[in-house]
Amino acid sequence: MTTSQPFDYESLFAENVPVTARAANRRAKYDFAVAFPAPETLPLDELVDSLRDALAREGDELAYYPHPAGMPALREFVADKLARDRDIHVTSDDIVLTSGSGEAIGMLIQAMTNQGDVLLTEEFVYLGTLRQMRRYGADVVGIKCDDQGMIPGELDTTINRLQDEGKTIKFLYTIPAFQNPLGFTMPLERRQQILDVTQKYTLPIFEDDCYVDLRFEGEDVTSIHALAGGDGVLYTGSFSKIIAPGMRMGYLVAPEQVMQRAMSFKSPSGVNQFAALAIEEFLKRDMYSHIGDQNETLRIKRDAMLAALGENFGDSAKWSVPEGGLYIWLEMPEGVDLAAIQEQAFNEGVGYYNGTQFSPEGRGANQARLCFGHPTPEIISEGIAELARIFTKHGVMRG
Ligand SMILES: Cc1ncc(COP(=O)(O)O)c(C=O)c1O
Repeated sequence: MTTSQPFDYESLFAENVPVTARAANRRAKYDFAVAFPAPETLPLDELVDSLRDALAREGDELAYYPHPAGMPALREFVADKLARDRDIHVTSDDIVLTSGSGEAIGMLIQAMTNQGDVLLTEEFVYLGTLRQMRRYGADVVGIKCDDQGMIPGELDTTINRLQDEGKTIKFLYTIPAFQNPLGFTMPLERRQQILDVTQKYTLPIFEDDCYVDLRFEGEDVTSIHALAGGDGVLYTGSFSKIIAPGMRMGYLVAPEQVMQRAMSFKSPSGVNQFAALAIEEFLKRDMYSHIGDQNETLRIKRDAMLAALGENFGDSAKWSVPEGGLYIWLEMPEGVDLAAIQEQAFNEGVGYYNGTQFSPEGRGANQARLCFGHPTPEIISEGIAELARIFTKHGVMRG
């Protein structure tokens, strides 16, 4: 049968399903908007070798659906890594592999959020988390930060105020290492202070540590999970930043009580076993040397961006100096509107995300995130000079 009208599905959708764009993000010539790692450090040959060897040994496994919690050997590897690197002592049963840490974040948000519940975050927060929190009806409240992270006194007063207003707060989400988008790492003392406040109110922390391995300067800081002895702290990590986002592999660490509920919001049938085989074999062989090489590349890129900012922005702006990760946070004087010219800047060849996009309250038009992970040092130098030229042309900076 043929009809002249295409089938109309409109009346069939469930209530409140948002319309989501499917197009890939547009890329500017000088792209400081994307949150991608350095493409030249992708360990492609090593992944191919690892996959070939793992398939030769365990390829028959692909005839079955994977374990619902994901490949047991990779979960064992994650448990060992967490014990060694983050002082987190859990078993592989406390770990579920997810399609990137984005899925882990979505699982927890859905398992815990009723319409109108409050979720606390840093005052600027990873867009993917913010979107998922809003999507599931949370009232997202940002806590004011300084260059060490959330300010404990601000956290305390905010929780107090929200409770007085009769609000239900479900958890505090934090990215304590190389925060996206602000770039800071919370020092030990600050972690302890934040934990003390949340423990006073019996509020769980959801620690998103997806950047923690990307340290190219300074000393590692103990995880909040370890400081709490694991009690009241949920944790997520990812292989997107130390291998590649395209692998889509992350993990959630939570006690059984939470996991039983969170699993309801996971796509069924485990995660991609093909990717898990390659990742597990690769990490066993090469993890630390690969991370070392990658971080050296990132350090060079960060330095290129810092130098270019110094040359082109001088004292017209302030910016963060991260010890790792992918981001520098640029701050122009109050009143400057980087949101208003973002599209024009993009059309003139430079991509960035302004602060309002990361702020639960829509603040931060005078701020912007600049990602140094993907472009080469040469492109970074040229692009930052171009950004200054565009800012000057559009009157947000004096030439
Ligand atoms: C803080 C943070 N958490 C989680 C993610 C999600 O990453 P993935 O799902 O690739 O692990 C990102 C991605 O940029 C991020 O910045």
